[in-house]
Amino acid sequence: MNPPNRKPRHLAVIMDGNGRWAERRNRPRSLGHRAGVRAVQVCLEFCLEQGIEALTLFAFSSENWNRPAEEVGALMKLFLRMLDNEVEELHRRGARIVFIGERGEFSQLIQDKMARAEALTRNNTAITANIAAGYGGRWDIVNATRRLAAEVAAGRLRPEEIDESMLNRQLSLADQDPPDLFIRTGGDLRVSNFLLWQLAYTELWFTETLWPDLDETTLRQALDDF
Ligand code: FPP
Repeated sequence: MNPPNRKPRHLAVIMDGNGRWAERRNRPRSLGHRAGVRAVQVCLEFCLEQGIEALTLFAFSSENWNRPAEEVGALMKLFLRMLDNEVEELHRRGARIVFIGERGEFSQLIQDKMARAEALTRNNTAITANIAAGYGGRWDIVNATRRLAAEVAAGRLRPEEIDESMLNRQLSLADQDPPDLFIRTGGDLRVSNFLLWQLAYTELWFTETLWPDLDETTLRQALDDF
């Protein structure tokens, strides 16, 4: 039995359903992503209020690069706008921003703004906001494996010395406790190549609510069920 008032310390979220939210209104999918930004704000505000220490948002998966160019372009515009307009406010609220994923595929401008946001907020302690962008759980594990393989090839490490904690240290979020609660909106019951390693013991919670419709009541429900 969980003790009462048990509260997650690290929440991981798949923000799904933006496209369907727009399609149901006969609007372009990009409008759903724009509406999704408001839900990001709702979610962050909720986590700050609840004293949740870390929030990891799946903003853009490695597979999302395969979406139609027009949709990818709209998402990139949205990221740029968020990097320009939201970072200052997040900094003011004491959020430390961390990006996880393969950054090399983003434009140089976006990469620079990611680095600037991280540098600006690196000493903040109210919450850690991890933004997964160009991220895939399998990418993460392959990346970590490559780093260890390079150490072995250089003669600095023996294969039998590799254990879970060593691999873990090479993964994204290595310096953070793993998520204890995972939320996916949009009705699909999958983890879709999100934090595969890090979700090993995470409680999973799913809702039919589409991401742009996310509200405090839904988030409260997830916490009550936890
Ligand atoms: C999934 O919905 C959502 C995305 C691929 C993008 C999420 C991005 C945002 C909410 C805005 C930016 C946020 C940050 C933190 C920078 P979908 O298009 O797969 O929806 P569908 O399943 O209905 O098609």
